[in-house]
Amino acid sequence: MARAYSLAILLSAATACGAAAVPIQPPNQSSLISVSAATPSGAGVPLEAFVSYSIEFSSFPDFAGNLTSPNTFSNNLLNNLGKFAGTKPYIRVGGNTQDYAIFNSSLDVASVGIFNTNLSSDYPTTLTIGPPYFESYQTWPGTKFTHGFNLGRNSTAARQALIDSVPYACKALEGGTLLHWELGNEPDLYKTSSQGPVRPPTWNEQDYVDEWLHWTRAIKAAMEGPCPNLASNKSYKYYAPSFAGTSNSLDPVVTWEEGLDADKDIAVITSHNYINGAAVPGVTLQGTLMNHTANVVSIAKQLNESRLLAALPNSLDLDLPFILGETNSLYNEGRPGLSNTFGAALWGVDFNLWCATNSIRRVHMHQGTNYRYQSWQPIDTNITSKGTKAPYYGNIGVAAFLGDIVSSPPSIVNLPLPSELESAYAAYVNGKLARLMVVNLMEYNATDGNNYTDDYPRPVERYSFQLPPGTKGTVHLQRLMANGSDAITGITYDGFSYNYELDNGLPVLLHNTTRGETAKVGENGTLSVDVPRSSAVLIRFDGGAAGYYE
Ligand SMILES: *[C@@H]1O[C@H](CO)[C@@H](O)[C@H](O)[C@H]1NC(C)=O
Ligand SMILES: *[C@@H]1O[C@H](CO)[C@@H](O)[C@H](O)[C@H]1NC(C)=O
Ligand SMILES: *[C@@H]1O[C@H](CO)[C@@H](O)[C@H](O)[C@H]1NC(C)=O
Ligand SMILES: *[C@@H]1O[C@H](CO)[C@@H](O)[C@H](O)[C@H]1NC(C)=O
Ligand SMILES: *[C@@H]1O[C@H](CO)[C@@H](O)[C@H](O)[C@H]1NC(C)=O
Ligand SMILES: *[C@@H]1O[C@H](CO)[C@@H](O)[C@H](O)[C@H]1NC(C)=O
Ligand SMILES: *[C@@H]1O[C@H](CO)[C@@H](O)[C@H](O)[C@H]1NC(C)=O
Ligand SMILES: *[C@@H]1O[C@H](CO)[C@@H](O)[C@H](O)[C@H]1NC(C)=O
Ligand SMILES: *[C@@H]1O[C@H](CO)[C@@H](O)[C@H](O)[C@H]1NC(C)=O
Ligand SMILES: *[C@@H]1O[C@H](CO)[C@@H](O)[C@H](O)[C@H]1NC(C)=O
Ligand SMILES: *[C@@H]1O[C@H](CO)[C@@H](O)[C@H](O)[C@H]1NC(C)=O
Ligand SMILES: *[C@@H]1O[C@H](CO)[C@@H](O)[C@H](O)[C@H]1NC(C)=O
Repeated sequence: MARAYSLAILLSAATACGAAAVPIQPPNQSSLISVSAATPSGAGVPLEAFVSYSIEFSSFPDFAGNLTSPNTFSNNLLNNLGKFAGTKPYIRVGGNTQDYAIFNSSLDVASVGIFNTNLSSDYPTTLTIGPPYFESYQTWPGTKFTHGFNLGRNSTAARQALIDSVPYACKALEGGTLLHWELGNEPDLYKTSSQGPVRPPTWNEQDYVDEWLHWTRAIKAAMEGPCPNLASNKSYKYYAPSFAGTSNSLDPVVTWEEGLDADKDIAVITSHNYINGAAVPGVTLQGTLMNHTANVVSIAKQLNESRLLAALPNSLDLDLPFILGETNSLYNEGRPGLSNTFGAALWGVDFNLWCATNSIRRVHMHQGTNYRYQSWQPIDTNITSKGTKAPYYGNIGVAAFLGDIVSSPPSIVNLPLPSELESAYAAYVNGKLARLMVVNLMEYNATDGNNYTDDYPRPVERYSFQLPPGTKGTVHLQRLMANGSDAITGITYDGFSYNYELDNGLPVLLHNTTRGETAKVGENGTLSVDVPRSSAVLIRFDGGAAGYYE
């Protein structure tokens, strides 16, 4: 499929170069895509705050600021998503640096990080946090958080520092801001971490479970004095086990069998996923990110895990939601030219909606300061300027498609398409078709090697749907658009920009983009919509004319 596509491009381009006038081709037609009238069985049901974030522990003060200097840009970006979704995204504060962080109650700054570029150029591998760190939990009104406690560092001093941090953490998260706790990031890599192993090769599932139970009980005991409400069995809950799942070093299913949830304090089963790696040879935008099959293959690992967990004996009472507690495109913080492009934003739409379809019920998109796959850069640094980055627009597209999950919970299905370079999804609300989304993943470069001209413009695919009987009238179209898959700026959703430099991340309607488009449902119940390569369109049957900002 892909090879035929590239060949076709080359042939068309050759014609374009060789001939003076190139005939404008009609849009390519899909065969009729059938859309079920009622919610198909097995449809995915997202949890509230489906589009959520994971913020690198060491970067959290950059993202959130503190009480004297709150990061209002970040808060505006979270509010934009909250307007679509009914709640602001949930924030998991964690990642590799969660397991490096050592609390020191005498430190009068939020954190002191020391980089060892032998281990990572992207984050500090030695990290001390002080009481001011916890102010960052109070700068985003109405936002819920998971706080990541350190399990990795296990010297006696580090274990004491964990317990010392508990009163500060629980005080900061009292009063409705706490979602859940987390203890340890990717413990299945503790024996093999490329930043240095922190457990011996013999460490097994039972050892992990023993440590997890020991320290979650110790944290609870330390919370009872300062925060009795949070230490009640009803409130004291975890995201676990937060495995990377990329090695076979610890089997998540075995940890449950060994009694990880013996105290019934796990609320949500979390797993981590990156579809590939930043430095892996052969990774490309079209072949890896703008490729529906790559998402299907990658998520199959989690679906297998969740199937095995569901098959565990009833006595384990594992009727818990399964989510991705940390995820993004390419591990090792992404690759420039791939993870930071509009193509990566489209990847995010397909990846997240494939998760939603399969009842991976929430996705925390990971980011940190200067990370190449970040949705936004929260502060200016000498590496990256403060700003809204392309992947954020993908997050907006997903939130718009899912709609208000609190007041109108959607059910999501995938509509199979012939090529792996395109995908389509349907959202049902109250048993009726509410929205469709089409993602055209065919690469179209705005600049590099672009041979397209006014006479031979950006190719367009036409998608035709056979709608449920009785569907008629006019539907509204909202597009996720940029000049090409390699664009890193100039991205809009429904004509709005959320860029930092325009209005600090608040929505700004641009007057040089097309919006307010409609399409008419044919007498026979069919609908055709044209989708330019490297773009996505939301088709609204729910009367949502124009969005939320008018
Ligand atoms: C904690 O921080 C204080 C103030 O910076 C410092 O004097 C002290 O040595 C630190 N304690 C440890 C155990 O590192
Ligand atoms: C709060 O943030 C500002 C701006 O980053 C910084 O200058 C200040 O030191 C921070 N305050 C504390 C207590 O960390
Ligand atoms: C980094 O590696 C180099 C070469 O192996 C070594 O000389 C240096 O001490 C290392 N730096 C740190 C901070 O470990
Ligand atoms: C640290 O981990 C090792 C290996 O699992 C264990 O033997 C040791 O007791 C742990 N230390 C503490 C202070 O928990
Ligand atoms: C709270 O949970 C623990 C662990 O399951 C249990 O031992 C304890 O009895 C529970 N307490 C109450 C008050 O239910
Ligand atoms: C898409 O990904 C799949 C799975 O990794 C791979 O087999 C296929 O070749 C990729 N397609 C393209 C166009 O590269
Ligand atoms: C960039 O900023 C960091 C942190 O402030 C500093 O350590 C580093 O030396 C700076 N690099 C350059 C090239 O200025
Ligand atoms: C887009 O540009 C990249 C980088 O130069 C190139 O590898 C790719 O083949 C181009 N794709 C298309 C469809 O022109
Ligand atoms: C664009 O045209 C140049 C020159 O003919 C050719 O080398 C290049 O491969 C073409 N790019 C694409 C994407 O077709
Ligand atoms: C239709 O598809 C063919 C083959 O994939 C491609 O060469 C052509 O550019 C497409 N036409 C349009 C208008 O998208
Ligand atoms: C559209 O308007 C925005 C904001 O004024 C500007 O940054 C951008 O360059 C314009 N785009 C085009 C294609 O003119
Ligand atoms: C449905 O009607 C449209 C025009 O409204 C027409 O183009 C299309 O071919 C018809 N499709 C079928 C399956 O009858």
